[in-house]
Amino acid sequence: MFRSFWTFLYWILRPFVKWFLRKTTKLCELQRICYGERVGACRTLGVEFSLYHSRSKEIKQLIEYLNRTSDTVSFTGSNQEYVVQYAVHTIMQVKNIKPQIHPQLGKSLSTCIEHIWGYKQLIQEIEALRTTTYDSSKEEHEQKLLALWNFLMPKVPLEARITKQWQDIGFQGDDPKTDFRGMGLLGLENLIYFAREYPGAAQHVLSHSHHPQYGYAFAIVGINLTSMAYYLLKDGSAKTHVYNVCNKFPTMKVFHQFYCYLFYEFDRFWIESKPRNVMDFTFIKDKFEKCIRLSLVNPSTVFRINISIDNI
Ligand SMILES: *[C@@H]1O[C@H](CO)[C@@H](O)[C@H](O)[C@H]1NC(C)=O
Ligand SMILES: *[C@@H]1O[C@H](CO)[C@@H](O)[C@H](O)[C@H]1NC(C)=O
Ligand SMILES: *[C@@H]1O[C@H](CO)[C@@H](O)[C@H](O)[C@H]1NC(C)=O
Repeated sequence: MFRSFWTFLYWILRPFVKWFLRKTTKLCELQRICYGERVGACRTLGVEFSLYHSRSKEIKQLIEYLNRTSDTVSFTGSNQEYVVQYAVHTIMQVKNIKPQIHPQLGKSLSTCIEHIWGYKQLIQEIEALRTTTYDSSKEEHEQKLLALWNFLMPKVPLEARITKQWQDIGFQGDDPKTDFRGMGLLGLENLIYFAREYPGAAQHVLSHSHHPQYGYAFAIVGINLTSMAYYLLKDGSAKTHVYNVCNKFPTMKVFHQFYCYLFYEFDRFWIESKPRNVMDFTFIKDKFEKCIRLSLVNPSTVFRINISIDNI
């Protein structure tokens, strides 16, 4: 009740405060954010808030257009730069800002727009992979699965397509095809990226998963962490990290790297928690997710995988 009163007051006063600041500083809200906040999440989150709450009809139309572009995954090739430039131009015109007098503002704004709508587009791209079910009648899917084996077990040949060997990398039975479930191809692509790009870290985690006391199913846990990464991205929690880590348009690579970080850190967290058995998984995973969410609230958070292990 008390809180909603202040929220109410804030929305009543916001236009007057904006007007007052504009008069005294001779800068509009977007300029104050772009000049006052550090590049990255602080600035982009400020610009995002300001644009979404703009009462200007032109800005509202622009947002609708940008939403449509990202929702249909149309920020591609030269269209990407064209749309971003158009958006910056429109905002400057509405706010009556001369680009020649404020050249830095245009650059700053285009980075923010790339962040905001690149993130939205990334969610769509990830959704497309997630909803693609693993299909063993597709040669392309089968090749990916075999590639995963070869990246993780370069010295051990797979004896057959259907074999108990799959359990060595943490699948459930003798055929991984049903293990991807709700995460579809996204789970497989995440695992491949981890094994291919961070072979040292992946081997380190895989060997932990074979631990006699603290062992777990590598691939199954990996797929579960895909789901964690997916929900963190989708509900917007991962914005701080993504806006800080990208200086341009966020792409799939950013998501894969975020996943690798989660997997590597989860493994460490698991071992340090000294689980009694795999029944502790849900409890430890929830605790881990809480820590990650807490870090993501901090606008200066950047997750970097600790690859010192890759040099061993
Ligand atoms: C654009 O997308 C954002 C985030 O998904 C949403 O909050 C907003 O209402 C949308 N705006 C319009 C005008 O479609
Ligand atoms: C991940 O594990 C949790 C239990 O901790 C379970 O509820 C959830 O369905 C699993 N998700 C996937 C995609 O396997
Ligand atoms: C990276 O890993 C090494 C070795 O495990 C550790 O000593 C170091 O503190 C870690 N660095 C960070 C930033 O976590």
